[in-house]
Amino acid sequence: MSNSSRYIDIHCPYKPLVVGRVPAMTADEAGSAVLSAERAQKLWAAVPLHERAGLLYAWADELQRMADEIAEFIMLEVGKSRAAALAEIERSADLVRHTAEEGRRLGGELIRGDAYPGSKPGKTALIDKVPLGVVLAISPFNYPVNLSVSKVAPALITGNTVVLKPPTQGSISALLAARALHRAGCPPGVLNVVTGRGADIGDVLTSHTSVRCISFTGGTATGRAICRKANMIPVILELGGKDPAIVLEDADLQLAAREIVSGAFSYSGQRCTAIKRVLVAEPVAEPLIELLRCGIERLRVGSPEEQADITPLIDTQAADKVSNLIREALDEGARLIIGNRRDGNLIYPTLLDGVTERMRVAWEEPFGPVLPVIRVRDEEEAIRWANASEFGLQASIFTRDVQSALAIAKRLEVGSVQLNRRTERGPDHFPFLGIKSSGLGVQGIRRSIETMVRDKVTVLQE
Ligand code: NAP
Ligand code: G3P
Repeated sequence: MSNSSRYIDIHCPYKPLVVGRVPAMTADEAGSAVLSAERAQKLWAAVPLHERAGLLYAWADELQRMADEIAEFIMLEVGKSRAAALAEIERSADLVRHTAEEGRRLGGELIRGDAYPGSKPGKTALIDKVPLGVVLAISPFNYPVNLSVSKVAPALITGNTVVLKPPTQGSISALLAARALHRAGCPPGVLNVVTGRGADIGDVLTSHTSVRCISFTGGTATGRAICRKANMIPVILELGGKDPAIVLEDADLQLAAREIVSGAFSYSGQRCTAIKRVLVAEPVAEPLIELLRCGIERLRVGSPEEQADITPLIDTQAADKVSNLIREALDEGARLIIGNRRDGNLIYPTLLDGVTERMRVAWEEPFGPVLPVIRVRDEEEAIRWANASEFGLQASIFTRDVQSALAIAKRLEVGSVQLNRRTERGPDHFPFLGIKSSGLGVQGIRRSIETMVRDKVTVLQE
């Protein structure tokens, strides 16, 4: 609730419908949410770890009980198919359970002083892992539940309390996930959800002196702005990407095409880890492009309610951006293989050949269903193209030669390299990170837990 009596209507991205409305909280209310989290934190940290884990298990169960209801709102708010929305809930419940298990294993450390020359005999350091305090979690529209839960769960298991600022488009889904946590028995003040435009309340939250850690997923520009505002605290950023699929001459082209189509076009390309360019060895470019074309032709385009693969983008601005990238590339000489049709915010899956370095589509993240193909002479040229990007999230390499794949992987400036598979974040207990403009810090269940605690050292002298 907000005292301002101002609300934001949430419009469905694929049909004329107001899905619901959420309070547009004021800056003062956002500040109060942080203080509420701060007040609750010490009590929460004092709750025995197995009880905190118990709450997470109960949350996972509740998420599954509410799966149909939450999935319906994910579909309506962000235009994801019902099946994909249900998969998001299932994945979130798994993540919460695994976080509870992993969190229970987080022990401290004991270091003996006599291992170091000159140390007084009998000195011992006990290193405990203690919570940071209030964690500010900010999530994006494309996984409004999963990318909220993946920040909230590690914070709670480690004894932190949370202020969650969900994406405006996706707020209702995130609020339902929060309701599931409260139904599971979460004490007051432990999770505080703040709704409202990031542009209006973001600064108050990110610069608040009681916030002790920020975990953010979203666009690179927003991530940079948050870094500038933050108060000398750990900031974890999952940002944009321009993940290349490198296809070498000896690749299994059928496999590569299947993985690339799925990697580039699932949820209409609105994934940070989507394959966003193909770097293909010239001798196999023609057959690969034909296989990609056939794969794209089979994608169903339409409404998420009909289980379409390609659905309208989140808003008109997003669709305009993709259209402009396509139009400019075609004006500059790219060859259209398939696509370039638009119906409102629905962009048909588009494949472009002959993309050159002068074209914006070669470098920018479209966050939509367009895939540029860049033909390269050899591995060296592929690596040069891959590393010339400002982004460094993931890359895929398709080849039958594992040795050469490993050698290339070593030289790619990205967080993760996938061999003969599409780029993707999961499984969620793997470390997940981006470098350069793609992020800061590491996530993945274990790493997220480690980020949300600090060492507390007590030195004993016998
Ligand atoms: P976004 O515009 O950066 O928004 C992300 C979140 O930040 C939203 O909750 C937004 O709130 C909030 N926000 C906006 N301005 C803020 C500010 N000044 N201070 C604090 N918070 C602020 O990103 P998006 O459009 O939701 O998502 C698309 C982008 O996210 C793409 O670039 C994509 O690659 C990236 N992404 C990356 C990953 C990854 O794992 N690397 C995952 C998903 C998405 P409002 O909704 O109210 O504006
Ligand atoms: O864009 C969200 C990012 O975390 C990717 O997740 O599972 O689609 O690879 P995923």
